[in-house]
Amino acid sequence: MENEDPFSELNIPKIVKQKLAKKFSSLATLSRAPAQEISEQVGISLKLAKTSITSARTILKQIPITAMDLLEEYKKKRKLTTGSQNLDEILAGGISTGSITEIIGEYASGKSQLTFQLCVNAQLPYELGGLEGSVYFIDTEGTFSAKRVFEIAYAKSQENPDLIIPEKILENIHIGRAYNAEHQMNLIQESDNFIVEKKIKLIIIDSIAAHFRTEYIGKDSLAARAQALMRHAAILYRFADSYDLVVITTNQVLASVDKYIGGQGTEPALGFAWGHRPQTRIFLRKQKGNARIARIIDSPELPESEAVFYISNNGIEDKYSLDEDL
Ligand SMILES: Nc1ncnc2c1ncn2[C@@H]1O[C@H](COP(=O)(O)OP(=O)(O)O)[C@@H](O)[C@H]1O
Ligand SMILES: [Mg+2]
Repeated sequence: MENEDPFSELNIPKIVKQKLAKKFSSLATLSRAPAQEISEQVGISLKLAKTSITSARTILKQIPITAMDLLEEYKKKRKLTTGSQNLDEILAGGISTGSITEIIGEYASGKSQLTFQLCVNAQLPYELGGLEGSVYFIDTEGTFSAKRVFEIAYAKSQENPDLIIPEKILENIHIGRAYNAEHQMNLIQESDNFIVEKKIKLIIIDSIAAHFRTEYIGKDSLAARAQALMRHAAILYRFADSYDLVVITTNQVLASVDKYIGGQGTEPALGFAWGHRPQTRIFLRKQKGNARIARIIDSPELPESEAVFYISNNGIEDKYSLDEDL
């Protein structure tokens, strides 16, 4: 992905390059970061941070590109399969790399189950709908279940015994347990080198909202919460864009008196400040038994549409298998 020393060509003192390398792993992420953030993170002056950005942009030749170039880039984007063809179909092939996708739903709607399935699927070869990469899972509520992921990985390995070894799948899922909102943001902010080193192709935050909702309470803290969330989102997007990886966040729903997103009288938590950051939002509704309905909302390029899938012992599937006990 990157050469040994991505900063060798930068027109800045060697000591600054060394400091940058401790926090950044590529010219792409460096060139996209705000100077203030680089200055704070790396411990260099604002002026040096700006010089570093300018130099990185020059090397990368960041000049305006045409819409045609963007279309070509879009066509190169990979899609990560969800495990359900129905759901993949309404997502135009799966979850897109290079952007943030949010899974929204009430308790037990299947948000975490879907992320567990994606942890396995991300490691599959491209021809099977995978990203051939590993996973960084930020667990904010302590709900990550290694046992459940193993079950899902095991089921996948039965389909492709030569290709998929469940133990290997689990070894390539790196868990960061976030104990508060600041910790959650730090885990992401500090992960540039880690992402490159471990070949991360999927970042999951399950859930984005829990800590922010319990720590920033009352009207007075709304502005501070919005600011923190913006920064969090900006860094997530920078990774998605620079390394062409999938970012998944999960979000809770709140009862709403005047909004009917998903037709349930509920709306995603964190309000407007966060709401426009994910490029695609998938709203999950629990149905009878293990059936779930997924609805695409807010996507700039997908129509609003719904798909049914099932949560079985094997993970996310299109059909309810009769041998499962409910
Ligand atoms: N092994 C399994 N087989 C079938 N369904 C399961 C299994 N494990 C969990 N589930 C289903 O997943 C639901 C919990 O989903 P989860 O993703 O944890 O919800 P949340 O949206 O709160 O994250 C349970 O209600 C159960 O129906
Ligand atoms: Mg959950």
